Amino acid sequence: MTIKPKILVVGSINMDLVTIAKRTPTIGETIIGEDFKMIPGGKGANQAVAAARMGAEVAFIGTVGEDIYGERLIETLGNEGIDISGIAKVKNLPTGIASIIVDGKANNSIIVVPGANLMVQVENLYANMELIDWCDIIVLQLEIPLETVIECIIEGKKRGKTIIFNPAPVQSFDKSIFKYIDYLIVNEIEAKQIAETDEEDYSKLVEKLIEIGFKNVLITIGEKGVLFNEEDEIKHIPALKVNAIDTTAAGDSFVGTFVTSLGSGANKNNAVQNAVRAAAITVTRVGAQSSLPYKDEI
Ligand code: RIB
Repeated sequence: MTIKPKILVVGSINMDLVTIAKRTPTIGETIIGEDFKMIPGGKGANQAVAAARMGAEVAFIGTVGEDIYGERLIETLGNEGIDISGIAKVKNLPTGIASIIVDGKANNSIIVVPGANLMVQVENLYANMELIDWCDIIVLQLEIPLETVIECIIEGKKRGKTIIFNPAPVQSFDKSIFKYIDYLIVNEIEAKQIAETDEEDYSKLVEKLIEIGFKNVLITIGEKGVLFNEEDEIKHIPALKVNAIDTTAAGDSFVGTFVTSLGSGANKNNAVQNAVRAAAITVTRVGAQSSLPYKDEI
């Protein structure tokens, strides 16, 4: 029997303002774009939606502004079957947005203006302790204040929860919390920054992250796939060859699918395979939550 994992995501919610253009303009240049879309996003919300679409029970702790984007984004998460009781509306700050340019080569550039995401405070965690108690797994990123993330990791661990940490966008955090993280999921740039190295050999990079205190490390390297440790070995699963049109949220798709597969009883290797398939589908579609696949697609 497949287990339906209970996953709590504590993270960001953004409205993505996506411009599609042949190329990204250079400084001082104006170009004509091809399309514009407003698409629900935010790393936290994307990972929650990815997990829900893979069959997990998902709850979310986050904050939006008292504005139209906030309304719409809460509604979207609710429509995915996600428990939205932990999402607060805050005054004085607008809902987070991400200004995204996607070019003709599927590359993107993103500026996030966090707005209300900055108000995911430690108090929000304590106000939603029943969600922390309810879940099996807690998933965190770094688009909300670091002190909230650290408090959540410590409180979650005290309660025996599995902690999945995707420290994106990366910032330095105290080494003393490394030991509380069950799975670290990073791209190659984040991996190097956390390990404080220029190491280009990704197997060695996994080893280095284990050496400094992480138990399970997964490094996603775009088209080259994923490297991770399993039973004293460093394994590599290649990415699927697809016709990529927009890489936005590929990492979020990976995280949400990996965590749901793992929580459903898959071993690490199979969970990574599922996550690689989900990420491959995501890059063939435009946008963040609009591109995340459902379980029957992978
Ligand atoms: O990971 C992709 C996400 O990063 C986008 O949805 C955007 O909102 C930013 O948070």
